[in-house]
Amino acid sequence: MDVYQAVVQRRTIRRFRQKPIPSWILKKLVNAARLAPSAGNRQPCEYIIINEKAKINEVFTTLHWAGYISPEGNPPLGQRPKAYIIVLLNTQKSKKPDLHDASASIENIILVAWEEGIGSCWIGSVNRRRLRKILNVPDYCKIDSVVALGYPAERPVVEKVSDSIKYWKDKYGILHVPKRNLKEILYWNTYTGGLKNG
Ligand SMILES: Cc1cc2nc3c(=O)[nH]c(=O)nc-3n(C[C@H](O)[C@H](O)[C@H](O)COP(=O)(O)O)c2cc1C
Repeated sequence: MDVYQAVVQRRTIRRFRQKPIPSWILKKLVNAARLAPSAGNRQPCEYIIINEKAKINEVFTTLHWAGYISPEGNPPLGQRPKAYIIVLLNTQKSKKPDLHDASASIENIILVAWEEGIGSCWIGSVNRRRLRKILNVPDYCKIDSVVALGYPAERPVVEKVSDSIKYWKDKYGILHVPKRNLKEILYWNTYTGGLKNG
């Protein structure tokens, strides 16, 4: 799979098959994260892989899923993530760590996972206080995001945005994800948008 294919085909996955993810793949994902671009090359990101059953269950209790369609978007029992990568920003490595660093590394994780046939959900809506306790994360590390991982048990589809950007589920349980089209967001050589607002 080439990179563009992965980018175009990837969708956020919130229902997972229960097949375990081999440890070497999880390690490969963090290696991909490690090599992401980094502001000033300070590399403040650190990662915790969660692949033990008890911990996986605990982490799950700290996460909020698919706000627009809650609680329908929650992964049901038997289709929950098989692993997580917790992305931290270590303030001892960079006093004011750049959030872009975490984002770049997370996108690497997500795309390489997709190439391996693994679906993911980038989760920013996290009970960080609780997660910090569960994982024994020290105060000098910020918890940026959680990446939920597992082999996909759903196939969301892309739609054109018509009147709303909110994703929805149809009567068959398929997730539809509206994306703005190029016409609305691409300009050549000078900004020509904003006409609607005068
Ligand atoms: C910074 C960030 C935070 C997100 N947080 C959550 C979250 O807390 N829970 C969730 O279910 N999805 C979360 N998502 C996933 C988005 O809902 C998803 O990317 C969006 O609906 C578009 O779908 P797509 O990834 O299939 O293109 C987050 C995505 C990003 C980039």
